[in-house]
Amino acid sequence: MIAEPGTRILKADQDAIEAGSRSLSAGGLVAFPTETVYGLGADAGNGAAVARLYAAKGRPSFNPLIAHVADTGSACRIGIFTPAAEKLAAAFWPGPLTLVVAKRPDADIADLALAGLDTVGLRVPEHPVAHELLKAFKGAVVAPSANRSGHVSPTSATHVLADLRGRIDLIIDAGPCAVGVESTIVSCVDHPTLLRPGGIPRDAIERVLGSPLTTASAIDDAPVAPGMLMSHYAPRAALRLDADTAQTGEALLAFGHAPPFSGTALNLSPRGDLIEAAANLFSHLRALDASGARHIAVMKVPHEGLGEAINDRLKRAAAPRRL
Ligand code: TXA
Ligand code: MG
Repeated sequence: MIAEPGTRILKADQDAIEAGSRSLSAGGLVAFPTETVYGLGADAGNGAAVARLYAAKGRPSFNPLIAHVADTGSACRIGIFTPAAEKLAAAFWPGPLTLVVAKRPDADIADLALAGLDTVGLRVPEHPVAHELLKAFKGAVVAPSANRSGHVSPTSATHVLADLRGRIDLIIDAGPCAVGVESTIVSCVDHPTLLRPGGIPRDAIERVLGSPLTTASAIDDAPVAPGMLMSHYAPRAALRLDADTAQTGEALLAFGHAPPFSGTALNLSPRGDLIEAAANLFSHLRALDASGARHIAVMKVPHEGLGEAINDRLKRAAAPRRL
């Protein structure tokens, strides 16, 4: 009988990066930090490893995965870059931007990882540990956020462990993620289209393109990016958005100057800073869930800069559950 393998946790250093790279080569599942959220990595070319990854997350297999690579050159060997894609890669890579482009027919990406699409989401992360891991591994690493499907994304190794202990091989721990919301996804297959707001604000992208992005409509059950499923980012508690304050029986997720409140309360950013708020979003939602709150009142977050991504995740977290 084979003993149930445990999940190793290693502090991010050279040994951890080498262990991560070896594990990926052997078909293992490795959670690693990026500047946005922790990713759960598998060798993109290894269909069996990708199948284990879907199983570990409990993720619907129609959801395609982002391929992570160390540099733009590696990305261009996997996807066909349009002039717009080239511009965006030059401006924002490495960084929290995923570009969807046509896949080269000979690219070594398992069909399962792309859920049958002939396009591929590519990302060059900026986090030094992600970068070193991708460099050491050499190939592409597909990595969704390292949470159970439907949970909020993990921004610390503790979050990853809470969701995936015993289901994955290794977690590389480099502390909390700086950006805190997932990458912005722009499809460049056709006219550049915003598929998911994220770590790079829309206006920064539009400035580089010199024209507005088309916005994909969030269709509940026919998602362009399945991360757009309406109830995708769900804490256990029910959320009430745009609240002025919390009522009895609710916990408060505040932003900026908060009204006095005697119950459980956390503030995304007391000084009203959207960058700080994004970095705190998922850990605060997890902490309020862990406090046993059944209802969370969420104060209004301005819809500018990173506020678009924050409000997108909050809206999904508040949507009716489909389970
Ligand atoms: O910040 C991030 O993007 C994190 C870190 C780990 O890199 N990753 C992440 O992956 O958020 P995931 O799998 O949780 O979300 C990826 C989203 C999904 O909604 C998926 O449907 C969409 O990207 N996606 C991936 N490939 C696509 C493609 N070819 N066309 C359209 N959407 C795609
Ligand atoms: Mg995710």
